[in-house]
Amino acid sequence: MTLSDDTPAARAARILARPVSLNGLTLPNRIVMAPMTRQFSPGGIPGADVASYYSRRAAAGVGLIVTEGTYVGHASAGESSRVPRFHGEEQLAGWAKVAEEVHAAGGRIVPQLWHIGMVRKPGRPPFAEAPAVGPSGLRVDGTEGTGEAMTQRDIDDVIGAFAEAAAAAERIGFDGVELHGAHGYLIDQFLWSGTNRRTDAYGGDPVARTRFAAEVVAAVREAVSPDFPVIFRYSQWKQEAYDARLAATPEELEAILTPLAAAGVDAFHASTRRYWLPEFEGSDLNLAGWTKKLTGKQVISVGSVGLDGDFIRAFAGEGAPVGSLDNLLDRLERDEFDLVAVGRALLQDPQWAEKVLAGRFDELAPYDAAALRTLS
Ligand SMILES: Cc1cc2nc3c(=O)[nH]c(=O)nc-3n(C[C@H](O)[C@H](O)[C@H](O)COP(=O)(O)O)c2cc1C
Repeated sequence: MTLSDDTPAARAARILARPVSLNGLTLPNRIVMAPMTRQFSPGGIPGADVASYYSRRAAAGVGLIVTEGTYVGHASAGESSRVPRFHGEEQLAGWAKVAEEVHAAGGRIVPQLWHIGMVRKPGRPPFAEAPAVGPSGLRVDGTEGTGEAMTQRDIDDVIGAFAEAAAAAERIGFDGVELHGAHGYLIDQFLWSGTNRRTDAYGGDPVARTRFAAEVVAAVREAVSPDFPVIFRYSQWKQEAYDARLAATPEELEAILTPLAAAGVDAFHASTRRYWLPEFEGSDLNLAGWTKKLTGKQVISVGSVGLDGDFIRAFAGEGAPVGSLDNLLDRLERDEFDLVAVGRALLQDPQWAEKVLAGRFDELAPYDAAALRTLS
């Protein structure tokens, strides 16, 4: 191929349509569907509409689907009766159908396993009596709350719940798991000094604050086959504190990521709102780029791919115009990171991956917040 043959369409296909393996799982391309909570699963049971929502995206070329966050089997894990749960007979039967349909459409899918910790408000479903629990009973937004600092028994129970959910994922046909260690939810509450004030082995310096996450990873690793992919999602920012940071320097980030990699993470998912922003001074690398450099593991980047305007505005009901993919393709081509997750653009358009892989950029549509209202 001469340089002039590398049209924008050919370039996108060449860079994105490279296969990649995550432990025992081979993906046909670099496009991942980002986890997005949808609240369309009454009783915590994903139904036929949820299965077709995901399988539509699988049929249209998404390399890997990460499901919406789904609660592990611990009474304090969540606060919605419409968020799917990853425990219980009916709930898991619903999920087994989701995996089956995605596979029938030619796709691959992992559940995002979730415990919200101190984000939980008292009295909320699905288990109204359950307290909010977290490393120190502190809320992420700094307000005083009616939460409980976790005892060793609580810690063991939650670790067990993640391990059980991971084992269930493999048993019912999923292709791996993603652990939700991002955005200020339970695992991240341990990682962050703002919410972790413990004086025992789970609190203190960055390595001690990583202990809980590393124990979750190790227990999950132990509960599944050696070749079953385990992905760990983390972020600097918190849903209730956007400017918060886990690590102010690459050295601090390395201190957090190294024990996680050692505990058995196959790939990290570095959650940022805008993938093109450098993470630390003196380098153009984004958070995913640093994660790959520091751990040598495979890494998924994310944040406003294909859109001009970040997702915080989506929660305020705003849309976003289509944005260029050039910077993303440059970074992928340099192997700064391995995969890219796409949120709102794929929520808006089930055919997004197919269009991008075929270079049909003129068919891409702006993100309209109305897409949140249906499971189309
Ligand atoms: C409606 C909605 C729900 C989301 N739910 C989750 C979630 O359950 N778990 C998670 O880790 N991130 C969640 N996110 C964040 C996305 O995974 C993604 O990181 C973010 O939307 C940025 O990607 P985008 O700019 O391509 O939309 C959600 C985002 C949106 C818009």
